[in-house]
Amino acid sequence: MALKLNPVTFPSTRSLNITFSPSRHPRSPRTLLVASTSTKEAQKLKKSHGPPKEVHVQVTHSMPPQKLEIFKSLEGWAEDNLLLHLKPVEKCWQPQDFLPEPESDGFYDQVKELRERAKELPDDYFVVLVGDMITEEALPTYQTMLNTLDGVRDETGASLTSWAIWTRAWTAEENRHGDLLNKYLYLSGRVDMKQIEKTIQYLIGSGMDPKTENNPYLGFIYTSFQERATFISHGNTARLAKEHGDMKLAQICGIIAADEKRHETAYTKIVEKLFEIDPDGTVLALADMMRKKISMPAHLMFDGQDDNLFENYSSVAQRIGVYTAKDYADILEFLVGRWKVETLTGLSAEGNRAQEFVCGLPARIRRLEERAAGRAKQPSSPVPFSWIFGRELVL
Ligand SMILES: [Fe+2]
Ligand SMILES: [Fe+2]
Repeated sequence: MALKLNPVTFPSTRSLNITFSPSRHPRSPRTLLVASTSTKEAQKLKKSHGPPKEVHVQVTHSMPPQKLEIFKSLEGWAEDNLLLHLKPVEKCWQPQDFLPEPESDGFYDQVKELRERAKELPDDYFVVLVGDMITEEALPTYQTMLNTLDGVRDETGASLTSWAIWTRAWTAEENRHGDLLNKYLYLSGRVDMKQIEKTIQYLIGSGMDPKTENNPYLGFIYTSFQERATFISHGNTARLAKEHGDMKLAQICGIIAADEKRHETAYTKIVEKLFEIDPDGTVLALADMMRKKISMPAHLMFDGQDDNLFENYSSVAQRIGVYTAKDYADILEFLVGRWKVETLTGLSAEGNRAQEFVCGLPARIRRLEERAAGRAKQPSSPVPFSWIFGRELVL
């Protein structure tokens, strides 16, 4: 999934604990006159493993400590209402259900058929599928992100709280997505696996910057949005595979989309509960998250070559209709409706302003996008993608 939006950021209005603000481009090292050679070497090493792009001012622990009690008191609720959205392993599909069987005599024929079908798919489709697969493969980052959240993190790695059980089982379900797409793409023979593998390594090393501030209100709003975004984008890659005659790939993307939908249901249910317990705090969190914009999980993507890789991949996804600016507005509109934000009452003055802001935002985003689309687009020269052996695509 991906989306390119204007890089406008809104500062958070709350007084928060600001911890880190690297301001240099990590791949444009500056000479530090005072640093000794060994310090310089160490800094260079640190930069080479850091995020490829500037990371914004990072805020931590923005949820007031007294609200931790809310999540503690929801432990029983989570056990009864959240865990039922997980599927028992024995009832789950596995990547192998959709791939050639390596133990069978028909393996080579099955691979040949897969490759024949893949020949019908265009390069721009493969670039988007690769970007989606790389996004799924950075799963360690997403489990880390969930475990940054105060009050719900897995404190031991095998914690028995419902929140921790959810996070681990959710991760285990998600792990099948990247696995299946990765194996399919490998067998297709259409993409440069080494470049893709490098991109995954860079991306996991870079992490992500979702601006969720260790705050479970922000964190669960973010995951609600993301699960729906992945549901939409995998659904669209399924639809396009079908249009190109590859029913097997359509089934692969469709089965992943169905998981994302189930995860969306679970995360939106958590936020619905927060709206019930703390409507003011939750509407403020939603407005805060939307002012900062929902950044895509793979926004720090890099392949060792293209400094604009994420933007370029997002542009192709937008052009072929896998994930668009319209989808972003639609997701927000869906969530506002799902959480009945418009009918919230008894809010503080600040809460009322937040409510007004988020309810009017989908229409505002659409108007801005329509205006941007109406402007004559500068013809851009085609861009090479290392994932498809440097072949060029129009953005
Ligand atoms: Fe996924
Ligand atoms: Fe997901």
